[in-house]
Amino acid sequence: MKIYHSINDLQQALLLLRSKGLQIGFVPTMGALHNGHLQLVERCSHENSISVVSIFVNPTQFNDKKDLVNYPRTLEADCQLLETVGCDIVFAPTESEMYPEPDSRVFQFGALEQVMEGAFRPGHFNGVAQIVSKLFDAVLPDRAYFGEKDFQQLAIIQEMTRQLNYQIEIVPCPIVREADGLAMSSRNARLTAEQRKNAVQISQALFKSRTFAADKSVKEVIEFVVTTINEVPDLRVEYFEIVDAQTLQSIEDWSETENPVGCIAVFCGEVRLIDNLSYASRI
Ligand code: PAF
Repeated sequence: MKIYHSINDLQQALLLLRSKGLQIGFVPTMGALHNGHLQLVERCSHENSISVVSIFVNPTQFNDKKDLVNYPRTLEADCQLLETVGCDIVFAPTESEMYPEPDSRVFQFGALEQVMEGAFRPGHFNGVAQIVSKLFDAVLPDRAYFGEKDFQQLAIIQEMTRQLNYQIEIVPCPIVREADGLAMSSRNARLTAEQRKNAVQISQALFKSRTFAADKSVKEVIEFVVTTINEVPDLRVEYFEIVDAQTLQSIEDWSETENPVGCIAVFCGEVRLIDNLSYASRI
C-alpha cells in the first residue's frame, strides 16, 4: 500500500496504472475509519483493479467549528486498517495541498440541498461538493463508493456528478450497523459509555416504527419516532422527516412515493448523529 500526500505524486502513480488498463475505484473519507468504511473499501477493491482511499478532514464542510476541532484524526491507525482490506493507495493531503487558495465555487443543488442537513448545516453541502469534486479531479476514478448513512450527501454527489459530467459510477453502499443496531459513524467514538448505551434507541425507534407503519399515517410514525427518542436521556431530535428517496422532499401521505425514507438527526449530548431507514417494505 502506497501513501501519497501530494496531488502531483498521486496523479503520476495513477497515470501509470491507468495506462496499463487498470480500473480505479475510490473511497473518499475523513478518516477515523470504522467497519463501515472498511466494508466500502473491501467492496471497492473487489470491484476494481486498484482501490484508492482518501483521508482528509475537509474544513469547508464544517459549519460548526467546534465539530471540526473535535473531529478524530487517526491517520496511522487508519492506514493500518486499510492494509487489511486490500487498499492499494492512500491519499492523505494537507489542507494547503487541497486548498492552496480558498475555494470560492458555489454549487446549486436546488431543492435537494434546502432540506434536512442542508437546512440545519448551512454551507455543508457546498463544502462537500468542493472537496469531492477536487478529489474526483485528482483521482479520476471509474467508480466511487459512498455509504447510504449519509443519504442526502449521496443524492447531492449523484447530482454533482451529473452536473459536472464526471464519467464516474457512483456506487451507493448500505448502512453498516453495530450489533445492537446503531449506525456506524466516526462520531460514535466521541460518545461516553452512557451516551453510547442511550444512542441505540435511535435505530431501535426507527426499526420499531417500521413494524407498524403500514397501519399508521406518516404523521403518526413521525410523532412516535420523535417522542420515543426525545424521552431517552441525552437524546434530542433535531429533525425527523419522511421523504421521497429521489427528491428528498417530505411526504405527508404514503401514497406520494413508492420509496419513502425516514431521515433523522439526533444530538446525543454534544455529538450529532444521523441515521435513516427505508419504509418501502413496511408491512
Ligand atoms: O462522508 C464523508 O466522510 C465526507 O463528507 C466526504 C465525502 C469524505 C467529503 O469530505
